[in-house]
Amino acid sequence: PIDQREYLINGELKTWPGSLNPILSPVYVKQGNEIVPKNIGSTPLLTSKEALEALDGAVKAYDLGHGVWPTLSVTARIEHVEKFLAAMRLKRAEVVKLLMWEIGKTLKDSEKEFDRTCDYIVDTIKVYKEIDRNSAKLVEDQGFMAQIRRVPYGVALCMGPYNYPLNETFSTLIPALIMGNTVVFKPAKFGVLLIRPLLEAFRTSFPPGVINIIYGRGRETVGALMETGLIDVFAFIGTNKGANELKKLHPKSHRLKAVLGLDAKNPAVVLPDADIDNAVSECITGSLSFNGQRCTALKVLFVHKSIADTFITKFNKAVATLKPGMPWDPGVSLTPLPEPGKVDYLRNLVEDAKQHGAKIVNEGGGEYSHSFYYPAVVYPVNDKMKLYTEEQFGPVIPIVPFENDSEVIDYVVNSNFGQQISIFGKDSKRVAHLMDAFVNQVGRINLNTQSQRGPDTFPFNGRKDSAEGTLSVSDALRVFSIRTIVATKTT
Ligand code: G3H
Repeated sequence: PIDQREYLINGELKTWPGSLNPILSPVYVKQGNEIVPKNIGSTPLLTSKEALEALDGAVKAYDLGHGVWPTLSVTARIEHVEKFLAAMRLKRAEVVKLLMWEIGKTLKDSEKEFDRTCDYIVDTIKVYKEIDRNSAKLVEDQGFMAQIRRVPYGVALCMGPYNYPLNETFSTLIPALIMGNTVVFKPAKFGVLLIRPLLEAFRTSFPPGVINIIYGRGRETVGALMETGLIDVFAFIGTNKGANELKKLHPKSHRLKAVLGLDAKNPAVVLPDADIDNAVSECITGSLSFNGQRCTALKVLFVHKSIADTFITKFNKAVATLKPGMPWDPGVSLTPLPEPGKVDYLRNLVEDAKQHGAKIVNEGGGEYSHSFYYPAVVYPVNDKMKLYTEEQFGPVIPIVPFENDSEVIDYVVNSNFGQQISIFGKDSKRVAHLMDAFVNQVGRINLNTQSQRGPDTFPFNGRKDSAEGTLSVSDALRVFSIRTIVATKTT
């Protein structure tokens, strides 16, 4: 086990003498006569005192009077980030291993998460150079000459989710830093040990205080940070509940710039003339990659009544080809779930659906053992069931039969969420009608393909309770900066 005591404050790797938070893997092992989650280490249970020291470091490194970061030249800031990237690349094997042990992500997907993060940093640097070139240009209008500059907000608090503890966290942290903000970063609750191999890279690549990394209980550490009112940007990827609880602690929350990636219940609509084989294969990846633990996952499938039987037969056949196993096993795609209590939560959701008339329709669906839950295809799902609107964030696939397209439109319009939707069908008039209905409801409409965040150059956002602000390689640079105009009269 990795008993981590280090944390990073103001350019110093400190050693925590106090109590530690045990980290349990979703992978269960035999211990004597018992089968228990493997203890893979622990992280420091810092208090509000250390969190405030971290904030102090970030505030000082930002402060234009004494600070170093926001006033550095663009080239210099890029050099720091490139230095970090080079050091990070050397830690690939360690981070990938921890992704598998901590969150049960398969070897292939763990490697993809690491490589995607490196690519993201490279692309962000490229786009940043472009933005900077443009902001150096002078514009003239109505007797004025001006330079419109992109400047940082100040101190950013970055917190990421457990399902992409490296990639999604870094998709806020890196742009925030590049734009000249200083950062306090608290790693995700699970997927936390994997930041340890990068601590030294952060320490040696950035000036003191530019990036500070803390651990501990959210309410105690992050709560204390929020209460100071000194956080300028709150970058959070997680649940609405978590984001709202923290946001309201900020005494000037109206001034807080929030960049949020939140809950979603992305539907797929399968129309009668859809290419069923394509729809099945896209819905399988859409709903079950990383066991459905993606905010962008397809979380409810509306399938037209006339093709529901065929779709379900093919869908179940495809589910049966997915291999369960350990994250490092070759060819595996169904793995243990990292959230404690998740299996019971999914069982209760399915039980509720059963009580309201649905069934598990695939062989072995819903079988479970410890932290493993075999995907359950639940049919026919209707609005009496929790599964209809609640985000399951796991391997349960509700299928809703529909007759008229207006049923799906009503669902989307009445949903609290608005991240993405997938439409499968060939009739261009019918598809266009649905697109018109959805275009102001969701952040992205996918035609004959699953929902997803990538490519990372595409804007990633959502409507209603699903997001605030837009991420992506270029949008994130904009979201972590604000425009300041320097203007003078020419006449
Ligand atoms: O969990 C939410 C992520 O943004 C999903 O990203 O679509 O690339 O898997 P992804």
